[in-house]
Amino acid sequence: MTTVSRMNSAAIRDLTPDQLPEVVMPTCEARPILRGQTAIVTGASSGIGRSIAAALCAAGANVVVNFIGPEAEAQAVVHEATHCGCDHRGRAICHRADVSDEGQVDEMFARAIDEFGTVDILINNAGLQQDAALEEMTLSQWRRVIDVNLTGQFLCARAAVREFKRRGVKPSVSCAAGKIVCVSSVHEVIPWAGHVNYAASKGGVMLMMKSIAQEVAPWRIRVNSICPGAIRTPINRAAWATPEAYADLLKLIPYKRIGEPDDIARLAVWLASDEADYITGASLFVDGGMTLYPGFEAGG
Ligand code: BGC
Repeated sequence: MTTVSRMNSAAIRDLTPDQLPEVVMPTCEARPILRGQTAIVTGASSGIGRSIAAALCAAGANVVVNFIGPEAEAQAVVHEATHCGCDHRGRAICHRADVSDEGQVDEMFARAIDEFGTVDILINNAGLQQDAALEEMTLSQWRRVIDVNLTGQFLCARAAVREFKRRGVKPSVSCAAGKIVCVSSVHEVIPWAGHVNYAASKGGVMLMMKSIAQEVAPWRIRVNSICPGAIRTPINRAAWATPEAYADLLKLIPYKRIGEPDDIARLAVWLASDEADYITGASLFVDGGMTLYPGFEAGG
């Protein structure tokens, strides 16, 4: 069962790997910089999506918690997000949809618009891994990862841009007509043996994001990516769950700690806000230096 904690990042750094919580709730001092806006967060029932949903809500946004697995998990996120103690928190609902299914994506946007009036922010987060050595990888493993991680982000971005353009800029809400934050990965630039489907999907997200950003900028729509390194979530449990695995993982991280979902959530809120108004088409790495070629620390 996932543990929920309100610890701050400073306190977390003092804990050993097995003491660390999986989800860190945003502190209730969060500023309401997204008040009056509505966000869809895909894949929000666990991991990074879960933290982002809670943080957006704490920043005042209404949030659609998209999920595909058990509804109880998504309901738990709705509860966490709306009971963080902030006076200015937004509302939240959960909505089941497979982001790789065109009809289900369009229905999700229709539901969000019906419930909250419009959509201002899309967090394109849903993603999965189906790892295998190249010769062992099945076509269905290849396709499922590309379908969810890449095609899913395309379908959601397309639906979001249609709504952003339909509504246009409302200066009392935001300087932009809409914001898309793609959750990519360090593996949009770091090759990853044994994960060719995943790395290909994230490399695709990089140029999809930048191409969409270029296309829609004149409508005052901003599109950016967050590229997480190793973040403590269920997707990479094997890399941090034992002290031996954690020690190995730290060899890849100059900053010498694993990331927490909250490290990503804080940036997602800021990128979606007007404080980031002149940022578009950027891949922002949140990885403790994983992309700094740590193998060269003592060599080369
Ligand atoms: C993957 C994780 C991995 C991390 C760093 C992420 O995109 O989903 O499994 O730990 O990249 O390699």
